[in-house]
This record gives sequence, structure tokens and C-alpha cells, in this order.
Amino acid sequence: MKKRRIIIGGLLLMLTMNVYNSSSFEVKAAKEINTNTTKKIEDTSVENKADFSTDVIYQIVTDRFVDGDKSNNPTGDIFDKSNNRKYHGGDWAGITQKIEDGYFTNMGISALWISSPVENIMTIDPSNQSASYHGYWGKDFFRTNQAFGTFNDFKKLVQTAHSKNIKIVIDFAPNHTSTAELKGVTFPEDGALYRDGKLVGKFSNDKEGLFNHESWTDYSSLENGIYHSMYGLADLNHMNQKVDTYMKDAINKWLDLGVDGIRVDAVKHMQQGWQTNWLSSIYEKHNVFVFGEWFNGGTQNDAEMTNFANSSGMSLLDFRYANAIRNTIGNKSSSMKQLYQVMADTEADYSEVKDQVTFIDNHDMSRFMSYSKNNAEAVNQAYVALLTSRGVPTIYYGSEQYMKGESDPDNRADMNSFNRNSKAYQIIGKLAKLRKKNSALAYGNSKERWVNDDVIVFERKFGNSVVMTAINRNENRSYDINGLFTDLPKGKYNDELGGILKGKPIEVNEKGEVKGLTLGGGECSVWSYEDNTSNNDGLDSKGTDNRASSKNSLSSNGIDNKVSNNGTVNIGNVGPYVGIPGNKITVVGKGFGKKSGNVYVGKENAKIVDWSDSCINIQVPNIEGGEYEVIVKKSTGELAKYKSFRVLSSKQVATRFFVNNAQTQYGYSVYLVGNVEELGKWNVNKAVGPFFNSTGSIATYPTWFYDISLPAGKKIEYKYIMKDSAGNVIWESGMNHEYTPVKQGTGVVVNDWQR
Ligand code: NOJ
Ligand code: NOJ
Ligand code: CA
Ligand code: CA
Repeated sequence: MKKRRIIIGGLLLMLTMNVYNSSSFEVKAAKEINTNTTKKIEDTSVENKADFSTDVIYQIVTDRFVDGDKSNNPTGDIFDKSNNRKYHGGDWAGITQKIEDGYFTNMGISALWISSPVENIMTIDPSNQSASYHGYWGKDFFRTNQAFGTFNDFKKLVQTAHSKNIKIVIDFAPNHTSTAELKGVTFPEDGALYRDGKLVGKFSNDKEGLFNHESWTDYSSLENGIYHSMYGLADLNHMNQKVDTYMKDAINKWLDLGVDGIRVDAVKHMQQGWQTNWLSSIYEKHNVFVFGEWFNGGTQNDAEMTNFANSSGMSLLDFRYANAIRNTIGNKSSSMKQLYQVMADTEADYSEVKDQVTFIDNHDMSRFMSYSKNNAEAVNQAYVALLTSRGVPTIYYGSEQYMKGESDPDNRADMNSFNRNSKAYQIIGKLAKLRKKNSALAYGNSKERWVNDDVIVFERKFGNSVVMTAINRNENRSYDINGLFTDLPKGKYNDELGGILKGKPIEVNEKGEVKGLTLGGGECSVWSYEDNTSNNDGLDSKGTDNRASSKNSLSSNGIDNKVSNNGTVNIGNVGPYVGIPGNKITVVGKGFGKKSGNVYVGKENAKIVDWSDSCINIQVPNIEGGEYEVIVKKSTGELAKYKSFRVLSSKQVATRFFVNNAQTQYGYSVYLVGNVEELGKWNVNKAVGPFFNSTGSIATYPTWFYDISLPAGKKIEYKYIMKDSAGNVIWESGMNHEYTPVKQGTGVVVNDWQR
């Protein structure tokens, strides 16, 4: 995995001062400065589609939410409101109604993740007697699921949402169409794929190779999961040019309708090389937030998952964090120390932990209420943790109303109530609004302040803004919290939850200590300090905080020092965090000033698209692919730096590489390394791979293959290497290979290992 630069805020400020005050640099900056910006997008604005740090997402299974239009309800055997495997009638008109009546706004929700909107098969899947109410059995990605509505209904949903400052995120499942592969069962649709009503192809007699035709995956390896089918779902072959173009055009069609973000289904089951190329084509036109589902049942690091999250340009659903909350506050099988540990571990493993999407339950796992043995207080506590932790929090519809439900499809029952007095609804409302107000919750790093088996006290800090959260999960026992230190400035703080979970005010003394705090049984509190001194140009206070921090600080792991964290101008996030020259990217944070200054990617001055105190849109300058720092320079000259942004060489295409006769010693695998960023710039630690060698219909040992995203039409040089886990490297001999990737579509390269 890549090593990221980690620098302490104060030190980094001094460092950048020295480097960037050099006069030659100033000349360049002056020449390209753009002061003609009129638009003012704030980080909290609905127009900020790239960065969801201040948002709270609400996940809706469209069919199960509200039936706003009975005329679009399916008829026949796929519709049965008493059967959770059939359609129930929920639709976009129903969601639009709930947006209009303020149910989401009141709860502080600023993004809705809805079921995949594309046309699905409208027949029963004979393997499980289920209908496509969930949206995961795509048939025509250029048409709407008629049960959810027409394109006009969809446009109305998006417009209504935007008018209330709510973003729309669509689920999207490009890995497969519908079930086709189950011996002895005839599937009416045969996995057919259509493009706006015209047949592209079916699973049987697939002469064009639109699908992979391996057996069902046994989940034994990454390779097996990618090229084999998931329980018989017709698995698309993304290296097929038609499929590649189809999925690029299809997602763009929906994004052109104003969609603000994408939740990508089953990303573990598609090759990263293809996904990088697909994402890159998305980001060329739309700088939206994209997060994927890489299913993970535990709390431990999965190196392949982490590598994907850190290099593809797509965030992931944070299953590790979800599982930690479920184990600790949910069924109490682990001590609260595990929650702290997972916060620390994930912050170290993910290079962009704030962009990972957090949750406590979803449509593929038991609802939190059921998981905690029907303990509503546990649900409340879990939401307090979720909404004050790093990452973009997601509420699964109905869990704010304490809905129950074990496994699929019982965890997807009809929305039971819209009670605005439910405690959970109110807790979410208070904390979601706090996330928009206090930048510590959006961008701050995490620090543990006090922990035992039942209690966690943790703190988020960004610039000088601080939020501290205390949770005692044990309803029958109180704890004296001795030796509690905080970065909250001296003063008195009320519980932001208004005492709804028995929380109390605290007083912080000049040493940053809180004395005499007792957390009663089940007590939860959130205390907040918002620093507004940096909102003026040139009038910033020097708010350096020199107090000693408490012993349990996560900084012993180096993890709370990733972003500049002192001073008055701070970058909170950059997104999307991978892009090609010319792409629009969004820099969010605090204290940029009202007057436009400069933004540098590496040393290159970027064109400013628009500028506000908390949000700047820039264009990626025309620079070579690589990892760069992003630097904001205020009009007053102050600087802030963000650790990294990954620039790819140019427009991307996916290419399949085969290397024949690569016999390896035990423990070695084949990788590819070359002269461009996409191929690691000859750095063997960034070589692409390990290559695959066990897919019958593609290649088997001693032939190896791998799908890689490359700069379109740009000549590359490369070599294959063999590497073992200890890092020993064997290079191919001979000259470098040369290849010019196709300008569009997908490519294939076949080489022999050079002895
Ligand atoms: C994961 C989804 O969340 C799940 O519900 C679905 O069945 C599979 N992917 C296949 O699309
Ligand atoms: C090292 C490789 O051995 C060689 O083949 C290649 O030409 C260079 N790296 C590129 O700089
Ligand atoms: Ca309906
Ligand atoms: Ca697949």
C-alpha cells in the first residue's frame, strides 16, 4: 500500500511559508490569478456534489417507502403487499411527497440514496420466488423502472429535492443483469440486456462475449469473485467494448438528469482497472460523490478493499465501522474499547477516512433494533456515535422509527411510521444540523478521550472547532469520568442533545480539564464549540492551541495529524480525490476568505471556477500524472495544505494484459510496472497486480492476466515483474515493452515473459 505524507499542522504551515513565498512562484501566481468569480457555493450547499462531508444520507428502498401513485403499480404475480419478496407500490412520487412535507428537512437529512432507478425484469425469479422490487436485476439501464415512475417523475423528484437542499444519490448495479445461470431452471429473461428498448444480447448463445460464463463464485479469491457469477446473476464482461460503452453512457444519462451521487453495487465483484476507467469517464463531466459496496463481515482490515478505497477514486461503505458499532452498542458482544480501536485502525488504513460512508444497518443485514434485541436505547446511542464520528453517516429508512427485521427480505418491510416525535428522529435532527454548522464533525480528526468497557468519550477537531461526544451504553451503571481532558476552550457547554438521553452541561477549566463528570446509566452527551473567528479576510486570530492533550490521544498512532489542524485556514477535504487534467474538483474547509485567492496542485496554479469561504472549485491543471499536494493560498497570503490528490495522465481506457509463460517460484506473483502514474512510474511498490491466473475462460497459469486503466492513445513503456510478499523482485530481461492504448473502447495486449 502507498505511504502517504503525514505532517503536523504547525510545522507544515512554516514549511509551506518558506517554499511558497519564493519570488518566482509569486510571479506565476500573479499571472494566472482569476478574480472573476461570482458564484458562491458553500461546503454545505446542495450544489457541492463532490463532497458529502457535511451531509447525512438517508437510504430508501423505493418500493417500500411511500406509494405516491397507484397507477404505476405492477400487476400480476410480481405485486403482493403481503409478501416482502414482491412489489409493494412505493415510488418516486411518494418520496417527492415526503420531501415536500418536510419529513427529511426536519430530520436534517440532506441526501437521499434511492434504489437503482433503471428498468428491471418484471417477472418472478424462479430460483427464489422473488420480484425485482429491490432494483438489482437490471434489464435496460437507459429506461426507468416503471414501478418507480417515468423520467418526468424522476426529474420532479430531483427538482423537488434540490429546491429543499437535498441531494439525490442513486444505487447503480453495473456488475450484472438478472439471474440466468441455474441448472435446470428456465429464466424468462435469460439475463437479457437492452439499450433503450433495443436488445443488446442475452446470456445464452452469447456470441459477442457480453457476459462472463464461469460457474457461481465460491468467494475464495478476489479473482473468483470478479469473473464468476454471484448466485447465478448474469455477470457482465466489462472488457467487452459494447458493455464498457454501455455503462459509461448509461450512468451519464442519469447524471445528466441532475443526480448528485452514486452508490455502486458489488464493487468487489468488478475489476478495479475497469472501474477506474469508468469512474474517470464520469468525473470528466460530473464531479459527483461516488461510493461503492465492498461487502465485509468484520472489523479487520482487508488489504484488497483498502487498496481499492485508497486508489480507485471511489469511496466505500464503511463496513468495519458499522460492524464495530453493531458489536459494541448493538449486541454488546465487544467492549467499547473495540469501537475506539476500529476508529483508530480505519483512520490509519484509509487515506480518506472522512469520505467512507458509515451506517449502523442496511438492507443486507438485520436492522439495528433487532440486532440489539429490541433495545430502542441502543438505537439512540448508536445514532449519537454514528452522527458524531468521521465518515458520511447514512440512516437506513425506518430505523429512526425503530423498525425491526432480521434478514432479507424482513429488513425491507414497508415504512411503518413518520412520527416526528420519535427519539431517534429527534436525535438525528439535532446532530445532522450540527454537522452542517460545526466543521469539526465534517472534517475533524478523531481523538479518544476516555474509554472503558461501557463508555467511550471521543472528540473531533478541525481548526479550532471541537465536538466531544460521551456515550455510556450501560443503562444500569453510572461511571465517574476522572482525568478527562478536552480541546474545548475554557467555558461551559450545554448538551447539544438537549438532555434527551440524560446528558448534562460540562465546564472546562483553563487546563482543558473537565472535573466532576459522572455519566449516568445510558447517558449520552454531545458538547460543541464552533470557532467563527476565521471567517474574515485578514482578521484572523492566531488560535494555536498549546495545551497538553490527554494521555489517550490517538496521535500516538500519528493519525490525528493528517491534515493541517492549527491556524485559521484549513482544508477539510478534496474531492473527487482522483482526476485527470481539466476535471473540476472541489476543495472544502474553513477560512478561505470571501475574496478569491489561489489554489495550487503541486506547484501548478489551478484555474479557479468559483470561491467562497468554505468551498472552492478548481480545474485540475495540465500536469503529469502523480500524487500532488493541494495548497490554498488566501488573498491575505495565508496557506493551507491537503496531503494528497491523485492526478491520472489523461482520459482513461481499460486494457487487458496477458503474459504467457510466466512460471513463478512458490510465493511469487506477476505484476506490471511502467513509466506512467497508472503503472506506478517504475516504482515496484506501486506495480499493478497481482495478476490473475485461474479463470478458465480467460487465462490459467502459466499465463497471467489483469485489467488495467491506462491513458488513452498515449504510448507507454512497461515491464512485467515477479514479486513475493516479502518484496523480493525479479525483473523480466530484455527491452521494455511498448504499447499505445486505444483512443476509446477497450484494448488487449498479449506478451511473452522475456527470459
Ligand atoms: C448487494 C446489494 O446490496 C444486495 O442487496 C444485492 O442483492 C446484491 N448486491 C446483488 O446486486
Ligand atoms: C528498471 C527496469 O529494469 C528497466 O527495464 C527499465 O527500463 C527501467 N526501470 C526504466 O527506467
Ligand atoms: Ca406506486
Ligand atoms: Ca463480475
